[in-house]
Amino acid sequence: MQSSRSRSTPPASSPPAAFTRRTMLAGGGAAALLSAAGLPARAEPRGFRLRAAPATARLAPVPYPETAVWAFEGRVPGPEIRVRQGERLRILVENALAEDTTVHWHGMRVPNAMDGVPGLTQRPIAPGQSFVYEFEAVDAGTFWYHPHQRGFEQVDRGLAGPLIVEEAEPPVGIDRDLTWVLDDWRLLADASISPDFGNMHDAAMMGRIGNSVTVNGAVRESVEVRAGERVRLRLINAANARIFGLRFEGHAPLVVALDGQPVAPHAPEGGMVVLGPAMRADLLIDMTGKPGARFRVVDGFYQRSAYRLLDLAYADAPLRDRVPDTGPNLPANPLAEPDVAAAERHSVAFAGGGMSGMMGRMTSPGMRHGGIWTINGVAATGHVMAPMLTLAQGRSHVLAMTNDTAFHHPIHLHGHSFRVLSRNGVPTRRREWQDTVLMSPRERVEIALVADNPGDWMFHCHILEHMAAGMMGVIRVAPDTKKT
Ligand code: C2O
Ligand code: CU
Repeated sequence: MQSSRSRSTPPASSPPAAFTRRTMLAGGGAAALLSAAGLPARAEPRGFRLRAAPATARLAPVPYPETAVWAFEGRVPGPEIRVRQGERLRILVENALAEDTTVHWHGMRVPNAMDGVPGLTQRPIAPGQSFVYEFEAVDAGTFWYHPHQRGFEQVDRGLAGPLIVEEAEPPVGIDRDLTWVLDDWRLLADASISPDFGNMHDAAMMGRIGNSVTVNGAVRESVEVRAGERVRLRLINAANARIFGLRFEGHAPLVVALDGQPVAPHAPEGGMVVLGPAMRADLLIDMTGKPGARFRVVDGFYQRSAYRLLDLAYADAPLRDRVPDTGPNLPANPLAEPDVAAAERHSVAFAGGGMSGMMGRMTSPGMRHGGIWTINGVAATGHVMAPMLTLAQGRSHVLAMTNDTAFHHPIHLHGHSFRVLSRNGVPTRRREWQDTVLMSPRERVEIALVADNPGDWMFHCHILEHMAAGMMGVIRVAPDTKKT
């Protein structure tokens, strides 16, 4: 199977034109043919292209001018990649930026060589060069993609997009599947992006919080809905540093998936859907309002600066009288269940940042902001480093993590999803699967996973300024050589 696939598809060095024509054929005709024959439609990969280049985008409404951004395929956010679970993707990334880049498929359990980490899993893609990523969509769910090279600037300038993997069997009872990529921007009075990247204040404090928030690349007044419809809303936090806490006034959303992985449907705690940077939530929202009504969606995570994100605006014509109560339960993804009782335990401590003892030392000359944050006492200076942990492949592991800082940190592990077992010693109610877990100041969180994806994987805070200022490490998954 592997050999016929590589014979029938062009090598990675093919020019883009040939690649696009060929993969269009493969994605359409061949897949349809195979499924008609009753075979899995996964033999040929689906082809996509992502060209990273400078562009302009209308982030702020008229009369503001458009904003110069960096974008995939000229769009902010980048185009939605949408496939079916079990399909293979082949994505040609072209770099038309003036600096190196890579693309990381956040939350996707891909082979290590496809993970998009410069220096660690691949050579960075130089300006004018391209790279072909190919992997299978193992899990259904809501994922996203973004560069892993100088992310604090490349992601912030607009390089990020949604990656949606539909369930192999489409869930019943959903009228509309909507994606909202949430992002924020630090705009100057002329709507240009403030160029103060990498400043010490952002690095040591809360990260680069912007002053305007967009939904799918625009500041929006409203999103139209219809009375009686059931919407699956996929929220993706693509911001560098902003934590969102959304309330849907007049509605009772149910959380049905977190970070792409199904969770027992439940109302969000305190009515607020909290998403740290890089996190996703799939909500089921029943549109129970009256035709013509409007309801606010409010982001109130930072209480003193709560604001209206947009309105849900009901169309005059209802879809139906009432929402059907055929609640879909999403099927679980093929994740290996960690054996917590038999797991190896590892301690991880996050430290540093503003308001900690380190701040005094930081002001000394020669101390660049590379060393503001540490994991187990080490501040990373780049992606290539000795592993902070080696996890025996195929075994269960518990990471007992401590946030010894005064700030929130969304902690992300590549290549795996993990169960969140406990917070401050209290077992979580749903043992949710996540790939990014938001830790509150001083909080202790235990996570568990089966280390089943071999390779060197990044483990870092997804506040991209914290990451650039040291808060990352490498976790190696390798066969256990200590034992027999
Ligand atoms: Cu979303 Cu290491 O990244
Ligand atoms: Cu952080």
